[in-house]
Amino acid sequence: MPKKICVIPGDGIGLEVMESCLAVLDALKLDFEYVHADAGLACFKKRGEYIPDETIALAKSCDAVLMGAIQTPVPTPKDYKSPVLTLRRELDLFANVRPFRQILPNMRPLDIVLFRENTEDVYNCREYEKDGAVVSERVISRKGCERIVKFALDYAESHGRRKVTCIHKANVLKRSDGMFREIFYDLAKAHPSIKAEDDHVDAAAMHLVMNPARYDTIVTLNLYGDILSDEIAGLVGGLGFAPSANVGEKYALFEPVHGSAPDIAGKGTANPVAMILSACMMLRHFGYEAQAAKVESAIGKMLKDGKCTSDCGGKMKTKEFSKELIREIARR
Ligand code: NAD
Ligand code: IPM
Ligand code: MN
Repeated sequence: MPKKICVIPGDGIGLEVMESCLAVLDALKLDFEYVHADAGLACFKKRGEYIPDETIALAKSCDAVLMGAIQTPVPTPKDYKSPVLTLRRELDLFANVRPFRQILPNMRPLDIVLFRENTEDVYNCREYEKDGAVVSERVISRKGCERIVKFALDYAESHGRRKVTCIHKANVLKRSDGMFREIFYDLAKAHPSIKAEDDHVDAAAMHLVMNPARYDTIVTLNLYGDILSDEIAGLVGGLGFAPSANVGEKYALFEPVHGSAPDIAGKGTANPVAMILSACMMLRHFGYEAQAAKVESAIGKMLKDGKCTSDCGGKMKTKEFSKELIREIARR
């Protein structure tokens, strides 16, 4: 049976990095069947829908979703909602797994996996006016905290990681973040091989810049996880190197951490590595460990040889990079 993959390229550089990524996957000659689906700003302009019902149904009918990036302009058009958030909610993708590994040569070593709660916090986007102020709802549930903490601890244990740090702001958000922190230490008792620590999010932001080796595995709430993700990406060469998996009980969606990058879209210069590494996470999810490792080592060799896009000082265009990567994979 082929693995059925729902492909949502999206907007801007999402289209460019997805094209490169699919070319690399094709070169692996695996039994994959792709179903292309529409979502995002271009889809909204064309069809009046930011994510058609058929896209959600297709995503649910496939073995995995592979997504490029989607644009949510500011100010946001009336009736437009983030398709990324819609999919995370509809598919109940509660765990956002973001591994950051230093693969650039001559850079400070780094290996951090960040687990971000992916369905709650301020991301219900409920805001209303009251007494001349705008009130934004922030929801943190016991169930939401328990499932992301458990997911992170189980992952850390099964992947031989040494420590999990819970990142929060319980000194201010005493009840919500306080509950998250308590749940973390409670559940950590069942994982004696894992060192359990916690940090305030503001201090963590500094430690990450000064001494990232302080962190091994991070578990955090949705908005902190969003912000810290881009910060940690900055330590491994930028967003062009940051992949992610959005995982739930039933479904899984793989996408780079970056967005549609309107500043470089259409130039053919986007770095496709984050997208390709996200596809490697999908390969591992299907059990294609050797193929994922082969692609990753081919990327490592290219970077060592200085073959990269302009975001890391190279001269290659997006398509040129993936063509050379396919040649490098063939040599292995
Ligand atoms: P962004 O991630 O699109 O870009 C931030 C910066 O990083 C830009 O300077 C961009 O050029 C650079 N960059 C990002 N990916 C790159 C790559 N692969 N290669 C080279 N450079 C890269 O973030 P933004 O500018 O804040 O947001 C732009 C749009 O993307 C917004 O509409 C936002 O809502 C959306 N967004 C979508 C997703 C998603 O679909 N998952 C994620 C983040 C942002
Ligand atoms: C991410 C993105 C999303 C988020 C946006 C596009 C809603 O920034 O996946 O990191 O904030 O979660
Ligand atoms: Mn983000």
